[in-house]
Amino acid sequence: MSKIIENGMLITASETFKADILIDDSGCISAIGHNLDAPGAERIDATGKLILPGGVDPHTHFDLPMFGTVSSDDHYTGHKAAAFGGTTTVIDFVNQDHDSLKKCVDAWHKKADDKAAIDFSFHMNIVKFDESVAKQIPDLLEEGITTLKIFTAYNGVLRIDDNKIFKVLRVAAENGVLTLLHAENGDVIETLVEEALAEGHTSSEWHALSRPAWGAGDAILRVAGMAHAADASLYIVHMNTAIGVDMLKYSREQGVKIMGETCPQYLFFTLDNMRQPDGAKWICSPPMRDKSDNERIWQAIERGEMQTIGTDHCPFFYDGTTPIEYEGEMIAIPGKELGVDDFTKTPNGLPAVGDRLLVMWTEGVVKGRISANEFVAMNCTNPAKIFGMYPRKGALLPGSDADIVIWDPQRKVKYGVAHSHQRTDYNLFEGWELMGYPEKVFLRGKLIVDGDKWLGERGSGEFIKRKEGEVL
Ligand code: URP
Ligand code: ZN
Ligand code: ZN
Repeated sequence: MSKIIENGMLITASETFKADILIDDSGCISAIGHNLDAPGAERIDATGKLILPGGVDPHTHFDLPMFGTVSSDDHYTGHKAAAFGGTTTVIDFVNQDHDSLKKCVDAWHKKADDKAAIDFSFHMNIVKFDESVAKQIPDLLEEGITTLKIFTAYNGVLRIDDNKIFKVLRVAAENGVLTLLHAENGDVIETLVEEALAEGHTSSEWHALSRPAWGAGDAILRVAGMAHAADASLYIVHMNTAIGVDMLKYSREQGVKIMGETCPQYLFFTLDNMRQPDGAKWICSPPMRDKSDNERIWQAIERGEMQTIGTDHCPFFYDGTTPIEYEGEMIAIPGKELGVDDFTKTPNGLPAVGDRLLVMWTEGVVKGRISANEFVAMNCTNPAKIFGMYPRKGALLPGSDADIVIWDPQRKVKYGVAHSHQRTDYNLFEGWELMGYPEKVFLRGKLIVDGDKWLGERGSGEFIKRKEGEVL
């Protein structure tokens, strides 16, 4: 049945205007205007509400094996949490653990397809690179994967050397592929971690102390230089440092085709959180830094120097020995307690996929740091454009998928783990007073979240085959 959402205030990346939206039977937006009519259409009154495109989170890790455990949201529970937070599309990362990239992608589909409850796509991690891998990059395009992620950290595990990074950038450029960079200095980290452990420093704060902020700066500048030489485009994921932002800005000013993503956790939290008794909750890579880093990243957001906000959602239980209830079942998954005597054994990552829009609206829009349009640009439209899904995703336009959030700007919530649907036992924003909340969420025209009610279904999320994206 077609639907008309009427009397709402539409917020796009560039405009705010009152209009009705007609959604056709196929789940697409078919018209935007006034006094829209369609015989038999269901009418949904959005008076006093805002209408946003569904959020696009370009950075998640569901069901990711790590340190003998696995991230605690899978491709169903993570999608459900995303939807409750107003996000309707996510992009996850495929591990490169076979010689054949196609096999790696197939393995990720096997984990995701039957569970997916919102629309999704994949990036491909490149942790081994040779001629054979280079030849397979065009196969990824056939699979709808137009992005690779490389690492300058995790020596001996995920990192590839600079020579190979340059070659990846070249082959990416030849194929219209965007390269994503995890920017830290792996060599410095290797030495500092060894020294910290030898000196008996095992607590959570040492995770951050052994990963200096300058590592992000030097890695970004070095790889930006290689991208320039290769005429490749580059996207820096999970930006956490002031120096990294400065290097991004510098490189953009020099004409490098480079873009940046930050995540909510890097705007609010610092090393002090990691010094708390429950500091392991904040262990992720790259780590929390200082107030001055938080402020510089906010400034980049306010000035339009940062292109997207993702989450790097990679949750673990804080206490994986104590079960929590999830959809009527008790569940416990080993988590942060694995590192209680040694920070290097703490699984890296934290929950955020459901929190992103809620926190960024209150802290960004309500507090006057960014406009509602800038909020939509960074959380919905820009990720869709950069990652080759626009205007199908990230837009309120005739022809776009009807991924729509009816947002109640007046709703106040004292937020925390009781509200968020992330499958873990803690929330970083526990007790935060939020203003503005999704009231209804539609995925391709189907109502999947109605207030506190979950109407989504396992297996109903579609894999989005992406095309070449835009450099913003
Ligand atoms: O700690 C994190 N972020 N784990 C996920 C892997 C990554 O590097 O993004
Ligand atoms: Zn990373
Ligand atoms: Zn990540």
